[in-house]
Amino acid sequence: MSLFRTEQLELGSIPARDPSPPSPWTSGSVLLTGATGLLGSALLESMLASTEARVVCVVRGSNDADAEGRLRTEIARRRLAVDWARVEVVRGDLAAAELGLAEVTFSRLSQRVDLILHAGAEVAWWGELDRVAATNLDSLRTMAAIAGRGRSKRVAFISSCAVFNADAYANAESVAEEPLAADPSGLRSPYVQSKWAGERLCSAISACGIPTSILRVPYLLPHSRHPIPNLAGAVDLLIDAAIRLEVAPEVGPTLPLCPADHCAERIVQILRAPLGPASIHHVAPFESLPWSILLAAAHQEGLLCRSMPSEAWFERAREASRERRELRPIVTLLSRDPSRTLWSRSNICRVRFDDAATRAAIPDLPPKSALEADCLRRFVRSIATTVARGEPAERQARPAE
Ligand SMILES: NC(=O)c1ccc[n+]([C@@H]2O[C@H](COP(=O)([O-])OP(=O)(O)OC[C@H]3O[C@@H](n4cnc5c(N)ncnc54)[C@H](OP(=O)(O)O)[C@@H]3O)[C@@H](O)[C@H]2O)c1
Repeated sequence: MSLFRTEQLELGSIPARDPSPPSPWTSGSVLLTGATGLLGSALLESMLASTEARVVCVVRGSNDADAEGRLRTEIARRRLAVDWARVEVVRGDLAAAELGLAEVTFSRLSQRVDLILHAGAEVAWWGELDRVAATNLDSLRTMAAIAGRGRSKRVAFISSCAVFNADAYANAESVAEEPLAADPSGLRSPYVQSKWAGERLCSAISACGIPTSILRVPYLLPHSRHPIPNLAGAVDLLIDAAIRLEVAPEVGPTLPLCPADHCAERIVQILRAPLGPASIHHVAPFESLPWSILLAAAHQEGLLCRSMPSEAWFERAREASRERRELRPIVTLLSRDPSRTLWSRSNICRVRFDDAATRAAIPDLPPKSALEADCLRRFVRSIATTVARGEPAERQARPAE
């Protein structure tokens, strides 16, 4: 079973929409999902810091106050700066019909919001299919329903570069900011399938006259200034396990990597530009980064001075994980990967993410650069600190697919 047949959209009749809705950035409002998460929290910080917009965050909780408490706790834990006077929190569950919102709230959001920025998702790579479908796809249908009522507004959908691991791109040297190939064969995890289906759903939404933007996000590293390891992230987990075992695998992926705050800033820059009715963007501020550079950053921190062949490293991790529970997430993740190297032979470890269309729309974007060595060292150090505190890597892993 897969999510490939889920791009149907039943919106009923919707009133005519303005293909260029009013900008939310001076006196309007943005509806943001996923604000407690790695990227969503950085998006919240970035929007509030660089614009005048108000932000309505849809957050899980037992009621609005509990949802707001959860968001405040998470923002404080991440040490982010948020102007709470411009934030409203609404309790909502992405997996529930109409987000579980009362009709009056649903209607108020439809009337008030100028942009929907849908960053919330079930991101566990091998998450249960029904839950992934409800959280990642039914929620997008609900966003379309909100966009189809009240004032005209854009739906911006956070997708993933991992959609290019489909077989259709096996021979591609470069991938463009265009709709995906129709054949999704090769995408195995329900999570990545949901991103593929979400992009297809966006096409159906824009065909209804609702403007959409798809933002294909690279693999996220923690916030560059306040790195807190993301122990649902595959690269974080691999480094974590290597530090715990005091030896690294020799081979790893070359990935499009971006700290969450840089990614959020780029997304806000893109969404502030005049955009077409169905825009697609590669959020690609940095060159892809080889595993060897991450290892070099670890060496500079006095960590991981030894490495060994990947298959042998995997066997060592598997053996050690019998006793050491904290190694199980990476072992479980790599068990699904025939190369035992976080899919280092997959398409996204090879292709170039062409962002020419975005650069043409926003000429003052800085050129792609290499991620600073200092940032990588802070990232590795933050993981080493977590390991030294004896904190476990226990959340379910997220893809580097
Ligand atoms: N991390 C990456 O490397 C990466 C790469 C490419 C694309 N992306 C995309 O970027 C977006 C954000 O990812 P992330 O890494 O920031 O993930 P994350 O840290 O796990 O955050 C996920 C967010 O979604 C929310 N969420 C999940 N299920 C929900 C539900 N049923 N109802 C309400 N909220 C729910 C979570 O809220 P709770 O706090 O309630 O759990 C959290 O705020 C996702 O769309 C993801 O697909 C991520």
